[in-house]
Amino acid sequence: MLGVIGTGYLGATHAACMAELGFDVVGVDTDESKVRSLSQGELPFYEPDLPELLAKNVAAGRLRFTTDFNELANADMHFICVGTPQQPGKNAADLSYVKASVAAVAAIAKPGSLLVGKSTVPVGTADALSASLPSHLELAWNPEFLREGFAVEDTLRPNRLVVGVQSDRAENLLKEVYQSLIKDGVPWISADLRTAELVKVAANSFLATKISFINAMAEICDASGGDVTVLAKAIGYDPRIGNRFLQAGIGFGGGCLPKDIRAFMARADELGATQALEFLREIDSINLRARKRVIELVRRDLSEALKSKRIAVLGAAFKPDSDDVRDSPALDIAVQIQAAGADVVVHDPKAIEPARKRFPALNFASSIDEVLKDAEIVLHLTEWKIYREIDPVKAKSLVSKAIIIDGRNALDRNKWIDAGWQFRALGVSDKEA
Ligand code: UGA
Repeated sequence: MLGVIGTGYLGATHAACMAELGFDVVGVDTDESKVRSLSQGELPFYEPDLPELLAKNVAAGRLRFTTDFNELANADMHFICVGTPQQPGKNAADLSYVKASVAAVAAIAKPGSLLVGKSTVPVGTADALSASLPSHLELAWNPEFLREGFAVEDTLRPNRLVVGVQSDRAENLLKEVYQSLIKDGVPWISADLRTAELVKVAANSFLATKISFINAMAEICDASGGDVTVLAKAIGYDPRIGNRFLQAGIGFGGGCLPKDIRAFMARADELGATQALEFLREIDSINLRARKRVIELVRRDLSEALKSKRIAVLGAAFKPDSDDVRDSPALDIAVQIQAAGADVVVHDPKAIEPARKRFPALNFASSIDEVLKDAEIVLHLTEWKIYREIDPVKAKSLVSKAIIIDGRNALDRNKWIDAGWQFRALGVSDKEA
């Protein structure tokens, strides 16, 4: 039997996927409403393919959810999947949920069972937690690399499995759990606890760097008259660079990349290695600057006068195929523009409710037609497929002024220009019809 502690994006996916592999799984969360909905086979957030997997495995009796840690007493392995958000006002991660979960599991776990951390934590956390455990329990770290929107795919067919272990026994137990994935050829990397923790934050730092690199190039293109989309395509053909994660625009958000690079910097400070990660400060600044640059474009088009101007925002989620609005660049821009006095209306196919919860003062539209109606400027901020399918001719008949800013460089520029729109994008000089 496997225990999964924390049933958010990571834990719910891990629990359902482990059940799909044939294990008997119990998921524990302190949030009663989440547990109630998961127990009925209903996913309390949006993630493609996961609802089917959840419902199927709950119905098969291999997967259940509870708020009671005592139900983990018979588990052979306990996966810790709780969040490690940024501490308010600080760069460092809040480890209180991880610490509380490990303590709660330690109190009931049967001797010989293995605790396996999956949460993203600062290097050294696992060592410290390990020292707090009774001698009959052992801790391993198995970082998770899943992307929201592809969570099931990334869990059942990951591009690697990384485990930080303190004994051959722990490694063998983990190999047993992931046996079918290993058989399918997924690379297995065994490391010490510290390296395993570092792999995760290093990977996310690299991804963040790649995005901010191309956004820095977008700034240079804006200053010099180049086109960042062509530039990205051209450099991406070099296999050492690769063309993925080079989409210039309003930058990265979500519950992972922003807080992970900040927590990594905070940890480097504590380790006396501040300089080694100084560049991440710049990566963070470039990222936040991209949001400001969109707002400057809006101001330029509206001659600085935002007050009462009707602005349509397409997208609230931090990326498409997710309803996650944590540190969403799209919502941040919407909120900043509204704070400047504009009449902002936001549309998103999945994230309106989470967005409304976070920012109740924003206005939301339930259809694309509704959001576009009478808009004086349209901002495309999350690249959902349905926005690429908008007919620019029809859209022009709804708005008051046909100006669009493509904050994700994802729309078919020529199509919009041909329909008579003024088309703006980051890193691409303006072209008129
Ligand atoms: C990220 C990593 O990609 C996962 O490997 C990792 O497991 C996860 O964090 C985590 O730490 O749990 P995720 O946050 O789901 O996954 O989203 P990404 O696909 O990485 O996108 C992050 C942000 O970067 C989004 O806001 C996206 O719009 C933006 N982005 C991505 C760009 O602006 N340009 C790109 O070219 C790619």
